[in-house]
Amino acid sequence: MQHRRTLPLLATALAACTATNAAVCYNQLSAAQFPNCAALSPSVALHWALNASHITFGVDADVPSNALYWFAIGISEMGGMFGADVWMLTRVPGNQSYVMMDLFSTTTVRPVPDSEQDVFLLTPPPPSNINTLFTFTRPIETCDTSDYPIIQGRSHHMIWAYGQGDPTGVALPHRPSDSDRGNAQIVLFPNSNASVELKEDVAVKELEESNNLLTFDARFPSTNLIPLRETSYLCSNFQLPVYSKHHIVQYEGIVDSSHLHHMVVFGCTSKPTNLGQVVDCASMQLDCSQIMFMWAPGKGKTVLPIEAGYAIGPDQDSFEYITLQLHYNNQQRSSNIPDSSGFRIYYTSKLRANDVGTLTLGSRDIHIPGNSNDYTALKPNICPSECTSKFPHDLVVISNGFHMHTLGFNASSRLVRQGQEISPLGLRQYYNFGFQGNTLPADAQAVIKPGDAIITQCVYLPTAGLRSQPTTLGESTQDEMCYNFVTYYPALKAIDTCISSSKQNIAFCSLKQNVGLGISVQAVQKGFLIPYASPSFVPYSPVCTPSAQVVVAPSQSDAVILSQTFLLFAAMFLAA
Ligand SMILES: *[C@@H]1O[C@H](CO)[C@@H](O)[C@H](O)[C@H]1NC(C)=O
Ligand SMILES: *[C@@H]1O[C@H](CO)[C@@H](O)[C@H](O)[C@H]1NC(C)=O
Ligand SMILES: *[C@@H]1O[C@H](CO)[C@@H](O)[C@H](O)[C@H]1NC(C)=O
Ligand SMILES: *[C@@H]1O[C@H](CO)[C@@H](O)[C@H](O)[C@H]1NC(C)=O
Repeated sequence: MQHRRTLPLLATALAACTATNAAVCYNQLSAAQFPNCAALSPSVALHWALNASHITFGVDADVPSNALYWFAIGISEMGGMFGADVWMLTRVPGNQSYVMMDLFSTTTVRPVPDSEQDVFLLTPPPPSNINTLFTFTRPIETCDTSDYPIIQGRSHHMIWAYGQGDPTGVALPHRPSDSDRGNAQIVLFPNSNASVELKEDVAVKELEESNNLLTFDARFPSTNLIPLRETSYLCSNFQLPVYSKHHIVQYEGIVDSSHLHHMVVFGCTSKPTNLGQVVDCASMQLDCSQIMFMWAPGKGKTVLPIEAGYAIGPDQDSFEYITLQLHYNNQQRSSNIPDSSGFRIYYTSKLRANDVGTLTLGSRDIHIPGNSNDYTALKPNICPSECTSKFPHDLVVISNGFHMHTLGFNASSRLVRQGQEISPLGLRQYYNFGFQGNTLPADAQAVIKPGDAIITQCVYLPTAGLRSQPTTLGESTQDEMCYNFVTYYPALKAIDTCISSSKQNIAFCSLKQNVGLGISVQAVQKGFLIPYASPSFVPYSPVCTPSAQVVVAPSQSDAVILSQTFLLFAAMFLAA
């Protein structure tokens, strides 16, 4: 089984298993039983099948079950341990048998067993000196607030890790190394039309065949070395090589080393400094904080809707500069590891019908007290009906890009239409600075209509033990921000920012470039500042129907096993 370790680099191994790594997918499990499979890493193949009510997984991990203590896999909001719905196979201490547990981890506390146990071990791993093979099942929708539903057509952020150790379970396992854990972005519940070529892909192919598809690789230089720290964030600014307006229609990650954890591209609204240099991201430029796109392992090409593209170029409403942010894990602190990861950006001069627009929502009135034992919720920021009434058309929402710094805890943008809150525009219940990225609206067909109000709120961690001084708005990671950069189309020409003052009911509803223009009276006359009435509304109350009714309380002995295993489990993911 030695060959299982000499698979191609992570990037290739993470491609759908129909590609190059069939040796891992379907090595031990059949495609008849599990029509879907993805290699999460060179050492873990995840197989799965869906029926009307359940998703059933088959794990084949390249670790001898005879040495395995526990194996955990699950779904997290954006790839981190915060807010992760974790399914864990673990030994019963002092006993050769296994149990499967349904857990959830919230912010800085260790994962705890759900009061509803919704995962069930079907076949435990047989003893083996080669691999670990087991299957388990879970309802697609449990309606437990500690579980994420498996959503059709959505890509889920999966995390996994395993611990080896004394198989009798007497001694606790050691902490997993970088190769014993990871994250991946996977569509678990494919659209029923998955075999039909998507019209978005067809459109890009047509551009390519007619020689109208250009590419630009925004990558770190080949001289870049991964820092000797366990976790680092490096940033580099690029000028896009276009001298007239073009549209970005697709992008994909270029992965150069297995230490790459994830990547984000931010759009800049002005020319950044340090072009071409690789710098620590500690002080991100405010003008380069509009989240455009992200990559995590497993995420393949992302294609934009056929009706729209990101406008790039020197024009006013186009991005000419971008910031590339790379997050590395280097647990062993290995030296001299080069990495020139980045993105391949596909763009065209054949302009699409619409530009993708970015609407900046959020709050600039940030005051988080130091030494506070409580979470700090900023006053909700209202983008009032009085502002959206100026939109000449509906905005088709692509994604939300919440942006806070290291104190960020959660954020939401709620949508109110005619006195009724509708399905949330965006929800980040477990924000993590290390895992920024695009959050899709709850409703895949979300639109912002003229006259809607959007209420955006950020909540920050208790500062006790972290900082004694108050924290306010600023660019450094020691300062804070509260933004939601909503990407949508067609782009509005006259409005890109809708931010209100929490002290008076006045909203700024205009272009960023007008923020500093004139005194209030002039700004009101020009219509940049508009008084508004606070919206009153009936809150959204979702109805959930479980796909299967299975609720079992965890047994007493399971609770004991859990308490023994979690400290380590939490420690290793928190470092990820
Ligand atoms: C779906 O699969 C699960 C797990 O194998 C099984 O318990 C359930 O009965 C199946 N449901 C249907 C509708 O086939
Ligand atoms: C091992 O643990 C399982 C689950 O708690 C229990 O059912 C079984 O009886 C135990 N076996 C031994 C030999 O203790
Ligand atoms: C599947 O394809 C049909 C025909 O092209 C289309 O009408 C339908 O919306 C597609 N469904 C999904 C879920 O994409
Ligand atoms: C954010 O956290 C606060 C404090 O725990 C909580 O009251 C609120 O419901 C959370 N909001 C979201 C959107 O998760």
